Amino acid sequence: MAKIECPKCKKVIETTGLVTVCPDCGADMREVMEKLARFGDEAARPKLGKDESMTTHEFIVRTKGLKKIYRMGDVEVPALRGVDLDIRRGEYLSIMGPSGSGKSTLFNMVGGLDKPSSGTCFIEEVDMAQLDAFELAWLRCRKIGYIFQTFNLIPVMTALENVTLPMIFAGMGSDEMLERGAFLLDVVGLGDRLHHKPFELSGGQQQRVAVARALANAPAIILADEPTGNLDLQTGKEIIDLLKRLNAESETTIISATHDLKMIDVSDRIVHIRDGQVERIDERADIDLEVGTLGE
Ligand SMILES: Nc1ncnc2c1ncn2[C@@H]1O[C@H](COP(=O)(O)OP(=O)(O)OP(=O)(O)O)[C@@H](O)[C@H]1O
Ligand SMILES: [Mg+2]
Repeated sequence: MAKIECPKCKKVIETTGLVTVCPDCGADMREVMEKLARFGDEAARPKLGKDESMTTHEFIVRTKGLKKIYRMGDVEVPALRGVDLDIRRGEYLSIMGPSGSGKSTLFNMVGGLDKPSSGTCFIEEVDMAQLDAFELAWLRCRKIGYIFQTFNLIPVMTALENVTLPMIFAGMGSDEMLERGAFLLDVVGLGDRLHHKPFELSGGQQQRVAVARALANAPAIILADEPTGNLDLQTGKEIIDLLKRLNAESETTIISATHDLKMIDVSDRIVHIRDGQVERIDERADIDLEVGTLGE
């Protein structure tokens, strides 16, 4: 709890960092909150939200022998051929590989959107295959935020409504929901676009809304499947920087499939996938070395 003073009525308010308007006079508190976040005590820092229920397993995601075979009539398409991958908590991991190498398939398994043909995927050491439908829905809603190449916003809903939708599923009260939604849109730089619908926003802005939506329930993991795939260079860079900032500030684990070389710069590790298998993994130190020798 931090104490802040309303700039208009001077009332001192106790807050956990989410208040955006004075509960007494309705004055805009964001500027005060921002100042406190930058210069004030740590407790007053607006919380992007850490997953409070999190335990301290070193690996937030582990896959063991993950295989996926799609069946198209008589034809079998092996999309994953045995993936073993340990992903550390708080890591920024990029998954790179040619088109058709299995990146999205791997995401669908890790995100609980599809089931593997064989092998196991653990989230915080829980075997996802052991969860019933309700538990899986809970995990997807609370633990994982999803970002897709095509934004996947609901066109008839405003930015704020899109962002608060997952909060409804999580059972958040409406005041808190609107406050958090506005706060998250502010975090991604869209504090002045709350009531715009997707078609009234640029591609980069739509992806920012999708980032805010992914953060709705303070997930432990963000899965981003080619989040910059439909964006121009500069806008793509802004989204990457935003994801990196969230990763650093809220310790959210970011797992991103990408063809985008700009991602290399911010990643702790890069997993290269080819033909449904892990080809090699580059650690940050190796990446620095490669980037350092680029100009030679
Ligand atoms: N639903 C599906 N049914 C049948 N085959 C599929 C299905 N989804 C993917 N595949 C096949 O599985 C393989 C891996 O596809 P996946 O979408 O995971 O690749 P990707 O690495 O994400 O490619 P991209 O970079 O183009 O997005 C491909 O050969 C693809 O044709
Ligand atoms: Mg894909």
